[in-house]
Amino acid sequence: MFILNNNDPVPLYKQLYNQIRELILSGRLPADSRLPSVRDMAVELSASRNTVDGAYQELYAEGYLYSKPRSGYFVSALDQDTAARSLPASAGKHDHLPGPPSCFDYDFHPARLDPESFPAELWRKCFVESLRQNSRQLVQYGDPQGDWGLRCSIQNYLERSRGVLCDPDQIIICSGLQQGLDIVAHLLKESHSVVAVENPGYHLPRSVFHNHSYSICPVPVGTGGIDLNHLKASSSTIAYVTPSHQLPLGYVMPVANRLALIEWAESGGKYIFEDDYDSELRYHGKPIPSLQGLRPEGNIIYSGTFSKILSPALRLSYLVLPYSLLAAYRRLYRDYFSPVSLLEQRTMAKFMEQGHWERHIRRMRMLYKRKHDTLLRAVEHNFGDRAVVTGQGAGLHVVLMLPDAAHSEAEIIDRGRQKGIRLFPFSDFHVTGQPEATTLLLGFGGMNGSEIERGIAILAKICLS
Ligand SMILES: Cc1ncc(COP(=O)(O)O)c(C=O)c1O
Repeated sequence: MFILNNNDPVPLYKQLYNQIRELILSGRLPADSRLPSVRDMAVELSASRNTVDGAYQELYAEGYLYSKPRSGYFVSALDQDTAARSLPASAGKHDHLPGPPSCFDYDFHPARLDPESFPAELWRKCFVESLRQNSRQLVQYGDPQGDWGLRCSIQNYLERSRGVLCDPDQIIICSGLQQGLDIVAHLLKESHSVVAVENPGYHLPRSVFHNHSYSICPVPVGTGGIDLNHLKASSSTIAYVTPSHQLPLGYVMPVANRLALIEWAESGGKYIFEDDYDSELRYHGKPIPSLQGLRPEGNIIYSGTFSKILSPALRLSYLVLPYSLLAAYRRLYRDYFSPVSLLEQRTMAKFMEQGHWERHIRRMRMLYKRKHDTLLRAVEHNFGDRAVVTGQGAGLHVVLMLPDAAHSEAEIIDRGRQKGIRLFPFSDFHVTGQPEATTLLLGFGGMNGSEIERGIAILAKICLS
């Protein structure tokens, strides 16, 4: 019924949007008709699910469609006379305008998860059970530090899987890394003013500590993680690190360096903020045990999240505070309430208690390993020895260095956009300096195998010619 033209400058999702909209306005798609599922429509059109989803989302946002949970999208009832008059005289007049930034056929953004991966049925089951069992608690505020049952489940999981040794008392349920960093910045600002961050590294810690008036000290990262000599020579008294999978380079900090980092922290009341954001996703061998487990009684603040394996939309993460900070935390946050919904916390606790969490981790590890392997094969096939891959074997992205690329990063991103490719600028991870060669960050979580293969083939043409 619909025809998409790859040679048309109008983005594919917009072509589909226009065709469906026209059928609705002309009455040929009557009210309450059900649209094919995103997956079926994508198969029918030989297009990506992102294309179909982009068209449906826009039609839904504009009121042409409504959705029913677990049933899909349906055509909204419109006044047909008025609707017919709203058909544009020259449909598609503004179609050359760029589409919304989220609609790309090949989305290499590193934060994308597999769009079909959320375990909605299991989550619904746990949610309904929590609702039934906790209705009396839902008329109260709940524990400000987070639900006790969830904290016990997290403690148990962290000890078995990450080697983190702590009491549930030390765990604070947060609404994401940003809130965890905010708490830590707040707790430490009386006696600390300079924070070391990895360079290249994640922008969020820089931003949060900067907003709390800290000075930011960028410290270079090598294959062994944050450069310890540079760190020791700096005036930093807090170090934010991603030792199990450095973002963005993907290096694992070896144990000798971990011990040296701990020694640095122990010399004079310094603190390590260990961001263990995606360590469940290791595709060869066992996950790397945490830094915190090497010195559970030390000044290490451990941070973990459910965003990478389960869903970033839930906004569920946790901090493990060292005992040395607990009294200050309780004093400063005495009057605060938990920002995370109790129902969501109890649902997560149930999800963990019933074993779904660890089964889900195993499923996600397999799913993402397949995508990771597909990406590496496609890079090998299309780039050959003209690219060097680093950071493979873990997480949701790899880094691609192009020593003799024909174009700069900005040119590649721009040309990619014109071909439906979204790239996250690697240079954004740098506080100072830039990589020696053109470097690309390739997230693979949000695309299926054939999208990864096609995306890499197009990208190779852009980069190498
Ligand atoms: C380095 C790093 N830490 C943590 C997170 C997760 O943050 P949150 O728990 O706020 O979703 C991310 C997400 O992309 C990340 O890149």
